[in-house]
Amino acid sequence: MNAFSQAAFLRAAGRPEDLPAAGLPEIAFAGRSNVGKSSAINALLGRRALARTSKTPGRTQTINFYSLGEHAVLVDLPGYGYARVSQALRAQWGALVEAYLRSRGTRVGVVVVMDARHPLTALDLQLLGWIKDAVRLIVLSKADKLSKRAQAEALGVVQRRFPRIEARLFSSVTRQGVDDCRNLLEQWLQQVAPE
Ligand code: GTP
Ligand code: MG
Repeated sequence: MNAFSQAAFLRAAGRPEDLPAAGLPEIAFAGRSNVGKSSAINALLGRRALARTSKTPGRTQTINFYSLGEHAVLVDLPGYGYARVSQALRAQWGALVEAYLRSRGTRVGVVVVMDARHPLTALDLQLLGWIKDAVRLIVLSKADKLSKRAQAEALGVVQRRFPRIEARLFSSVTRQGVDDCRNLLEQWLQQVAPE
């Protein structure tokens, strides 16, 4: 399908009423603020800066949609649970993300991105509890910051806790896990592609 080489920014939605009508299969990236969701999307698409990233948590404030040719859409969700934005903004993001997750019948799956250095924080577990049925892959990002041994430990912890969800170590810096994750997402899309 090679859809991942045909990525383009589609639109940004800041309010539930801005969400585009569901159509193409969608894969959404969720996770705590600053864990590397936007960086993971760029790495998977082989693009340096299609999705905007930042050292400052709370970079992504809208739901950003990226089209993969005519095949599918990748969705970059605002970081979940960022404490330092105002209560009002947090409530607004929560409502937006919730409206998105509830409205998408055609969604193919949600990828939850966690920091491999501390996977399964209370916020991660809260998010997983909230969208459990939709989650198909846990990406343990920033694996480059851990020794091989610590990486294996982090992966083991996640796999034991969620044996039915795929989990992968990932680094947008070294590109560890990038091809593997892209293959997985391509498989999902092929499963829903019309004959
Ligand atoms: P929000 O949009 O604020 O929720 O953040 P995000 O989850 O989209 O994170 P983003 O991709 O903006 O990355 C946050 C910071 O982590 C940036 O400084 C990135 O350069 C850094 N980062 C992301 N992925 C990796 C990685 O795999 N390894 C390392 N070392 N740093 C990373
Ligand atoms: Mg982001």
